[in-house]
Amino acid sequence: MCGIVGYVGARSAQDVVIDGLRRMEYRGYDSAGIALVHDGRLASRKRAGKLGNLEKAISEEPLPASELGLGHTRWATHGAPNDVNAHPHLGATGRVALVHNGIIENFADLRARLEADDHVLISETDSEVAAHLLELQVESGVDLTVAMQRVCQQLEGAFTLVAIDAQDPDRVVAARRNSPLVVGIGEGENFLGSDVAAFIEHTREALELGQDQVVTITRDGVSVTAFDGSPAEGRRFHVDWDLSAAEKDGHDWFMRKEIFEQPRAVADSLLGRRTRSGQLQLDEMRLSDQELRDIDKIIIIAAGTSFYAGMVAKYAIEHWCRIPVEVELSSEFRYRDPILDYSTLVVAISQSGETADTLQAIRHARTQRSKVLAICNTNGSTIPRESDAVIYTHAGPEIGVASTKGFLTQLIACYLLALYLAQVKGTRYGDEITQVMEQLEAMPAHIETVLAGSEAIYDLAREHVGTRSFLFLGRHAGYPVALEGALKLKELAYLHAEGFAAGELKHGPIALVEDGLPVLCVVPPEGRDQLHDKMISGIQEVRARGARTICLAEEGDTSIEPYADVLIRLPRVPVLLQPLVAVVPLQLFACELASAMGHDVDQPRNLAKSVTVE
Ligand code: G6P
Repeated sequence: MCGIVGYVGARSAQDVVIDGLRRMEYRGYDSAGIALVHDGRLASRKRAGKLGNLEKAISEEPLPASELGLGHTRWATHGAPNDVNAHPHLGATGRVALVHNGIIENFADLRARLEADDHVLISETDSEVAAHLLELQVESGVDLTVAMQRVCQQLEGAFTLVAIDAQDPDRVVAARRNSPLVVGIGEGENFLGSDVAAFIEHTREALELGQDQVVTITRDGVSVTAFDGSPAEGRRFHVDWDLSAAEKDGHDWFMRKEIFEQPRAVADSLLGRRTRSGQLQLDEMRLSDQELRDIDKIIIIAAGTSFYAGMVAKYAIEHWCRIPVEVELSSEFRYRDPILDYSTLVVAISQSGETADTLQAIRHARTQRSKVLAICNTNGSTIPRESDAVIYTHAGPEIGVASTKGFLTQLIACYLLALYLAQVKGTRYGDEITQVMEQLEAMPAHIETVLAGSEAIYDLAREHVGTRSFLFLGRHAGYPVALEGALKLKELAYLHAEGFAAGELKHGPIALVEDGLPVLCVVPPEGRDQLHDKMISGIQEVRARGARTICLAEEGDTSIEPYADVLIRLPRVPVLLQPLVAVVPLQLFACELASAMGHDVDQPRNLAKSVTVE
């Protein structure tokens, strides 16, 4: 997730682009860059870090006046967050400048072909290949619009691209597949942005682009085509949000926006993980197959929500790979003198990559010669830097302090790790792995289905304003979901909420149950290992003692109906993948209840997004 701005008109392009980038910074701040067309040449500046670094660079070395330009603020995916990897990227001769948001899945093939033709690519990004390809096209004599159409037909993955050509001072061309892009329509000027916040101070008339479209903006007009060049149309709309709502895509809280971004975040985290022949590939794995085959134990360390992702990972890894897995809170890990050696793989899960407890734990593991693999959402942060291997999640920046899309994408990374180990160790056949990958790839649509039912969950949440205590029950992979549902309520609504393994309830916690106590139950899918029936027994136990049961159960499960005071339906998915859909109603519930109670959902009291002290 990056922020993109483009402009052509009568104003100073530098001012419009920099102001737009300031409003896009919430989308990523690993680096920022700008390119302008002046006198048949490109002028460009880019710097790692926040926009302030770019502004400083421009003040030290000013850019020429220009009325056409583009800019980018980066959330790093491919390549470290440094000056070289910052956007814009230029073509081989510096005629074309390009910015990109998304992931070009086939970039390695394209890069190899360019390098075979003597192109020198200076960054580690997937984006630079698109700049080179685009420049090859304009050098062959076509205009930038046609060039963009042709290049897009060669690209796989998700991308928004915006480009300018030094020899064409009148047009900015952009393209979109699976990543956001909107056009701002002005008078004698037009704008491009990742979202309307990029240009809302200049115009409220906008055009939303469809999938696989190329748009050309000039001072006087906007034209849209499909990738094959055939005419196409965007959807005109009027923006009536204020600026802060615009940054939140019309939502009241960043957290709510991030909950609704989960289908995309999950899809992005799955992109580029399979080769053409169907083999799984993890690009920053950096551990050899032999090193992975030598692993005889895995210890997962994490804190908070990431810890619960680790608990789900244990079920998946042990089931698919038959390697024993321990899951440990990072703050506890090194104080129990854990048994570690070169055949132990330590998996550190951290959204921020900066949590001090987790960092100290991996440092300890490495002193014991264990290999460390990080699952992280923040490219270039300390934990992945100090690890032997990384699986990056592609959630984009998470601004709400309580993690949502961070969690779902961690689950995806955990499943990918489990499947990858199964592939390397040969504990699952290739077609079994392919089947699970297909099930994972169907998840964004299932999560959309859950989100479509959000209003009913909001009503339920508002009914509970004034309730002081909640229990959450789950079994198997639903147990960590129960814990995460309870954590969300604690974090956001400051209420007593506890998650339990449903079977453990009768050994003590059932004493907490009293008349009217809401108990949220994550019901496993029917049909495996009696899990479902055992869960129903647990639900009966709390109902018999007066609890009000709110059951999350899959579509078509009728046997749960007599035991549910409230029934929230989940799409039918395999039990190991159910956390991806089951946690979403619990996120919505906590977000709405906290909001209805008047709490600051994005910045709950006493919490920090990233805790950098032990
Ligand atoms: C903090 C946050 C939690 C988060 C935990 C772990 O406590 O408030 O939301 O789950 O840190 O963060 P990490 O970045 O390591 O995943």
